[in-house]
Amino acid sequence: MNPKTLVILGTGGTIAGQAAQASDNIGYTAAQLGIDQLLACMPTLAGAGPFITEQVAQIDSKDMDFAVWARLAARVNHFLASPDVQGIVITHGTDTLEETAYFLQAVCQPLKPVVLTCAMRPATALAPDGPQNLLDAARVARHAGVQGVVAVCAGTVHSALDVQKTHTYKLDAFSSGDAGPIGYVEEGQLRQLRNWPQPHESRLGLGAQQRVNLPAAAADWPRVEIVMSYAGASGAVVEALLAQGVQGLVVAGTGNGTLHHALLGALLKAQAAGVKVVRATRCANGRVLATPTDLIADSQGLSPVKARVALLLACLDAAHQQQDDQDDNNQPDAPAGAVTPAPAVAPGGQGADQHQNQNDQQNERDGHRNNSLL
Ligand code: SIN
Repeated sequence: MNPKTLVILGTGGTIAGQAAQASDNIGYTAAQLGIDQLLACMPTLAGAGPFITEQVAQIDSKDMDFAVWARLAARVNHFLASPDVQGIVITHGTDTLEETAYFLQAVCQPLKPVVLTCAMRPATALAPDGPQNLLDAARVARHAGVQGVVAVCAGTVHSALDVQKTHTYKLDAFSSGDAGPIGYVEEGQLRQLRNWPQPHESRLGLGAQQRVNLPAAAADWPRVEIVMSYAGASGAVVEALLAQGVQGLVVAGTGNGTLHHALLGALLKAQAAGVKVVRATRCANGRVLATPTDLIADSQGLSPVKARVALLLACLDAAHQQQDDQDDNNQPDAPAGAVTPAPAVAPGGQGADQHQNQNDQQNERDGHRNNSLL
C-alpha cells in the first residue's frame, strides 16, 4: 500500500529564524525562512513518503493571535478530513507552542496525529536543532496508531495537555511535568510510555468545545486575562479588568492555588458579577488539589496559560449555547413525528467513522457540560 500524505504546515518561529552569524544562537530574527526552504535541506524527509506543505503564518510565536489560531485550526481540520492524509506536522515557535497545542487539541480533537515541532536555535546556527526535531516530528506523525496533538522537541514527545516550556535557552526546553512525556524518538524509533491524547479527555470542560465556531475577527473573541498572586498583591488589576468587561480570569496562585486575601476578595466579587474564574498555580510542577472549602474552581491540572485557552473556549461555547437556545425559542413548534436532526458535527470531521465517533462524544460531552466547572 502506498504511504499516505504527510501535511507540513509552517507558522514561523526560531526554527525558521536567521541570525547574522552562525555562532549566534540568540540574536536572531524568528520566522524568516518559508517552510519549503526549511525542507529543502532535508532529503531524508522526502524519502519517507509523500508530503505537502503550506505556510499558514510567518510569525514569532510571542505574537500569536486569535486570527492565526482560527486559521490554523481551520487548515488542520481541512487536512484531517482527507482520507489521504496520514497526519500533520506544524512548525511553531517555542514561546507559545504549549498554548497552540492545547488549543488545537481542544478544538480539533484529532483522531490522527497533529505534531507540533520547533527549535531553540535559528536555522543559521552552527548546529541547529530544527532539522532533527522536524525529522523526529515527521516520524511520529507517520507512526501507526498515533492520535491527538503532541509536541516533539529534543527527542521527546509531549502531550498537548501537559507540555510546558520550562527553559529559556537549552535545546531540551520542554517538560510534561509530573505527567511525564508520552515517549521518546530514539534514532528514528518511537518508544511510547503512555497513551496519546484522547478526544474525550476533559479538563475544564475541554471536551465540551466541539461545536465552538471560532470567530475570525480578534474583536469577537472573549476577553480572558491571567492575574497572579504574590506578596503584597491587591485587587486593583482585577477591579480594572472588571471595569473593562473582562469575561474570564485565570489566577496563577501560590503553591496549591492559594491567593492573597486582597486578590481573593476582588476575584470573588468578579465571580459574583458573572466572570468565569479559575485557580491555577504558579508552581512549575504539580496540580492544584481541590478542597471542600474552595470558593474558586481549580484548573484541573492545567497551567495558567492553558486554563486561559480553556476559559476562552468555554466563553465561546457559552455564547454559542445561548444563541442556540435563542434560535430554539424562535422556532415554531415541530410537527408531531418530526425527525430531530443529527447533532452538529465537528468542523473538521475526519471521515464516516470519525463522525459517528464524534456524535457519540457529543452526547457524552452534553452530559459533561452539566458537571463542568465552567
Ligand atoms: C518563537 O517562539 O517564535 C521564538 C522563540 C522560539 O521559537 O524559540
